[in-house]
Amino acid sequence: MITLPRRLALAGGAALLTGGAASVGPAPGIAASDGLHSRAQSKGMFYGAAIDHAMLRRDAAYMARVPVECGMVVAEASFKWEQIRPTPDRFAFEAAEELMAFAASRRLRVRGHTLVWHEAMPDWLPAQLSPATGERILATHVRTVAQHFRQRLAHWDVVNEVVQPEDGNALGLRSTPWLKALGPRYLDIAFETCAATDPGALRVLNEYGTDYAVPWEEKKRGALLDLLASLKARNVPIQAVGLQAHLDASQVALDQKVLNNFVNAIASMGLGIIVTELDVRDNNLPADIASRDAAVAAHTRAWLDAVLACPAVSGVMSWGLSDRRSWLNEKYTRADGLPQRPLPLDVDLGRKEMWEAIAASLATAPHRIVV
Ligand code: XIL
Repeated sequence: MITLPRRLALAGGAALLTGGAASVGPAPGIAASDGLHSRAQSKGMFYGAAIDHAMLRRDAAYMARVPVECGMVVAEASFKWEQIRPTPDRFAFEAAEELMAFAASRRLRVRGHTLVWHEAMPDWLPAQLSPATGERILATHVRTVAQHFRQRLAHWDVVNEVVQPEDGNALGLRSTPWLKALGPRYLDIAFETCAATDPGALRVLNEYGTDYAVPWEEKKRGALLDLLASLKARNVPIQAVGLQAHLDASQVALDQKVLNNFVNAIASMGLGIIVTELDVRDNNLPADIASRDAAVAAHTRAWLDAVLACPAVSGVMSWGLSDRRSWLNEKYTRADGLPQRPLPLDVDLGRKEMWEAIAASLATAPHRIVV
């Protein structure tokens, strides 16, 4: 007999699973009180996952599992310009609203991802961006989209992947159509417009490539910290940094001290930190499943232990929940053609060693005061 927490009983018992499961567990019938989000909550944090639109529509078993493990969701693609702005004159919120409806019916919070990115741009956008048009196009988009979702999102990734020191910009900014059209003030416009439109959504700068003690990532961490200092100095209303955490299980340069110093440096500027897109690729590891799963879990544990030691980190999101669906199988295919195993649940929705690693890291993390 499983007692559902009141929150889930109210949501119609959607969290109760009846199917059997393989691997480490779980036993049939799992309550959310045992899930990653509950474990995170007991430390004042949240756990969540990115949802792919096709899975949302067609995989009921997977979606039933989401509220068991998650308190927050984010769309893999449905909030990006490519989806929301098919033409300059049309805003298309249908796909995003399907995720909003799912989240509302399960009482999950939602992150918005993302208002500014150099990828997933509709074809018309880079073609129309210029110094003359840029501010109007950007401010109109941010105002309209943030207004549409006003008071319904917990966070906005206001800007995504803006740091790239190799591009030679004095502030370490990536060379993008946004930077070319507007200069660094595109950041100010995006954060200020978001703050004015939906002040309750936490405003996040989301970044990748800050995980390892290798030269390009060392440079990127330095450039990101300098950029944050300059944003703060000119009162740009940024509130938190998202660390994507697309990790590589074969990477040996994982230095916990370096990582911990980095997150502490962000926190010392008065900014929050969220782990936004955790997954661990295994495309450079041998095929054997047991050793891949063990390596992915050990890597997850080492990275998360170093990051969650900082009490400014408010939560962890993985980029997907089950190996049934990961963008990594498109981005980095294995030479042997096998699917990767980068996420906490396996293809049968069984808990993997990575799930145990996340649970263990949450269990050893210090309690947070601010959620
Ligand atoms: C990825 C999605 O997962 C893919 O389905 C899509 O084709 C490309 O984008 N960093 C980000 C995410 O900020 O938006 C990316 O998502 C993964 C890398």
